[in-house]
Amino acid sequence: MALLIKNGTIITAESTSQKDILIEGDKISRIEPNIIIDGIEIINAIGKYVIPGGVDVHTHLDMPLGDIVSRDDFETGTRAAAFGGTTTIIDYATQTRGMRMQEALEHWHRKATGKAFIDYGFHMIVTELGNSFDEDIKDIIRAGVTSFKLFMAYPGSLMVGDETIFQALKISSEYGGLICLHAEDGNDIDIRVKQALEAGNISPKYHALTRPPSTEAIAVKRAIELAAKAKAPLYIVHISSSDALKEVEHGKQMNLPVLGETCPQYLFLSIDDIDRPNFEGAKYVFTPPVRERDHQEALWQGIKLNIIDVVATDHCPFNFIGDKELGHDNFSKIPNGGPGIENRLHLLFEGGVNKKRISLNRWVDLVSTRPAKIFGLFPRKGTISIGSDADIVIWDPNKEHIISARTHHMRVDYNMYDGTKIMGDATTVLLRGKIIISEGKWQGRLKHGTFLTRKTPNIR
Ligand code: URP
Ligand code: ZN
Ligand code: ZN
Repeated sequence: MALLIKNGTIITAESTSQKDILIEGDKISRIEPNIIIDGIEIINAIGKYVIPGGVDVHTHLDMPLGDIVSRDDFETGTRAAAFGGTTTIIDYATQTRGMRMQEALEHWHRKATGKAFIDYGFHMIVTELGNSFDEDIKDIIRAGVTSFKLFMAYPGSLMVGDETIFQALKISSEYGGLICLHAEDGNDIDIRVKQALEAGNISPKYHALTRPPSTEAIAVKRAIELAAKAKAPLYIVHISSSDALKEVEHGKQMNLPVLGETCPQYLFLSIDDIDRPNFEGAKYVFTPPVRERDHQEALWQGIKLNIIDVVATDHCPFNFIGDKELGHDNFSKIPNGGPGIENRLHLLFEGGVNKKRISLNRWVDLVSTRPAKIFGLFPRKGTISIGSDADIVIWDPNKEHIISARTHHMRVDYNMYDGTKIMGDATTVLLRGKIIISEGKWQGRLKHGTFLTRKTPNIR
């Protein structure tokens, strides 16, 4: 089966060109001006951008949290992702204490197999190393899961100590893996949360007030020091503040292999949102928390200066009704996490390209190419080149899209960006040569998403 995309403007991280794309089977086979082949299906992309499918390297689908589970599973979450122009995700498989990493990986495979509409890989969340951690890390990397996340926050559940972080950094880098860190000072935060609750401060905004930027920056600094000692690369997830960003910048200036990720919520939302009346602020409870507005421009600046390498979503959806409500009388019981898998390209296009903060090429780099490179998927994913998977998004820069919980495809009862007007939208989406969305209409009859075994991360 061959398919021809004609008359579009191809945007990659490196270049902009006016060429046609021939797809044969799963792959891109030719990229040339004016390809003419009779008798095959043609997509006319005149006036549109043709970009590589988005790569979202931070999602939590079907993730248990206490008695509840994040609302999107691999079926609903990957479908929503596709509507927003994302064709690959890397989801966080979670090893709980007492469980081997191999068991956690099998568990996550069972969640995803046969359900996903787009391709997916896994990272492994490590909550304890156990006696055979050297073997385990090697096994997991061999199974194509080449990155691990550890938490410096949530004492008593996910948090691990510096010794564990150091060991994980050392061993994983020996085998070519990458450690991703959730950098917040969990002990300091715990004291602040207890004090707030004792003083009767129970509303959602205290989630943010008990996790000030200093608690993030201190952890990032410590993390970079540990990585330097272990001579290992380090990826800081969901950077939310200018304070934390400065630490990453400092690490990069010292030529340390430190990489930074931020998420749309830190570029678009602020402490005003978590302070919304009638408990609505609970919709904006995730960690690290929203910040004062001036942090947003600092993060955009970080994007411009390449201090931020990746924009991912940290998609972790919980309903407002029933889930977020669990913390009505105690902000620390509000499930942490927010939805976003569908709107990452929209928001970065609007806030980045349309607002002239970044070029079209940098937009593609941030949402597709750089994440694919860092997490060992490039050049199969993250670019438009001969031999790459034909994961392609036709993006109409002149189509208005109003973000709304009434029309979005995520299985959650609110949208954090409700009412935001975006000039630009994904109209047609291909996964490995198959059209899954055509002119905004769902065509994904089969669940073609497959597990991606990833190569060694490329941090340069
Ligand atoms: O609040 C958040 N971010 N929930 C998801 C887990 C994490 O820390 O990434
Ligand atoms: Zn995290
Ligand atoms: Zn996360």
